[in-house]
This record gives sequence, structure tokens and C-alpha cells, in this order.
Amino acid sequence: MKSRYTFFPGVVLALITFSSHAAEPKTGDPLVERGRYLVMIAGCNDCHTAGYMEKNGAVPEQDWLTGDSTGWRGPWGTTYAVNLRLYLQPLGEDQWLTVARNKPARPPMPWYALRDMHDDDLRALYRYIRQLGPAGSSVPGFVPPDQEPVTPYIVMVPQTGTAEPAPEKKAEDGGFFDWSFKPAKPRTTRP
Ligand code: HEC
Repeated sequence: MKSRYTFFPGVVLALITFSSHAAEPKTGDPLVERGRYLVMIAGCNDCHTAGYMEKNGAVPEQDWLTGDSTGWRGPWGTTYAVNLRLYLQPLGEDQWLTVARNKPARPPMPWYALRDMHDDDLRALYRYIRQLGPAGSSVPGFVPPDQEPVTPYIVMVPQTGTAEPAPEKKAEDGGFFDWSFKPAKPRTTRP
């Protein structure tokens, strides 16, 4: 039986060439691929990408790190995870290293994780985020502790717990999270 699809060798070659190129970072820079990996495993998207945590990471890459205008409110005031796609635009790579090493940020930003990263990892984050390009808009500015935020916000204030945790309450999350997920494939390479 004749195949429904007829490919000319040239077309097949072009497709193979195209798809193998599409799988690589645009720049061919191995640090870009490492940066992508670090963003995924270091949790940057959890706070800097709206909806990432609730959707178990199912947010298109083009929207990653565009910031979140839901605030984090605590004794420090209300903070917003900045739009990193815009934040890095005016910074040179070496300037970024200086900022990451020396600039504390308010909670819940784990700024000490950036401070303690290897130079190459900081460069990798920078190059990956820069090649994603600018996108989205700026998040609201910091709101001091004595002022009311106008946006939605999450309250981060420790509460006094009961001595005995009630196990039947564990599953009740008010339907906030999407618990469906695909099993992960083994990952055997590390950029
Ligand atoms: C738990 C939530 C959370 C996580 C995880 C997180 N951030 Fe943040 N980040 C924030 C918040 C909130 C701010 C704003 C802090 C402020 O206003 O001082 C922030 C601020 C920043 C800033 C700006 C610092 C400044 O004030 O100049 C950078 C850069 C940054 N984050 C990078 C990252 C990177 C890279 C990662 C992953 C390694 C990451 N963040 C992970 C919440 C988070």
C-alpha cells in the first residue's frame, strides 16, 4: 500500500535540521540551558510567575518570570515578586552579579540563595532570562507596613497552632491546588 505521505529526502533533511536546531538554546550558549534548569529547580517561577505554583508549573515558558501582582504581606509590609524579564533589562551581566551578591531583598525573596550561588550559575540565570526577552508589565511597588495594599495579597504571619494537628483537615485546601499531574521522566543530564 502506498504511504499517504510522500517525503522527498531534501524535505526530510530540512525537517531534521530544523527540529534539531529548535531543541537547542537560540544562542548556542550552554549557560542559557543551565539558566533555564536553575530557574526550574531553584523555584524562581514559584513566586515570579503568576499562577505557577497553583498550576504545578503548567505555565507557558513565554510567560515565565513576568512577575506577580499578588502581594506578600507580613511585618515587613507588602512585597511583590518583581518582573525579572524587565528587571534585568537595564543591568549588564557583571552588574547583575554585584546586585545578586550584595543586595538583600525583603521576604519572602530568598535573596541569600542568589548571594550564595556560583558565579557561573548567576551568569546562567542572567543569560537565560535575558534571552527570553522583555515581557509583561511592572508589578506594584512595595507597600509599607502601616499602609493597606490595593491588590490581592497573601498574609504571611505565623499563627498559634493547636497542640494536636487534626489529620482530617489535611486534604481540605479549598480546591486551590490542581492535584492532577503527569509522572516525570527520568532526568539523566544536567546542563
Ligand atoms: C518565595 C517567593 C520567591 C522566590 C522563590 C523567589 N523570589 Fe525573587 N522576589 C520575591 C519577592 C516578594 C521580591 C520583592 C522583594 C522586595 O520587594 O524587597 C523578589 C525580588 C527579587 C529580585 C529583586 C531584588 C531587588 O530588590 O532588587 C530579584 C533579582 C529576584 N527576586 C530574583 C529571584 C530569582 C533569580 C529567584 C530564583 C532563584 C527568586 N527570585 C525566587 C519572591 C521570591
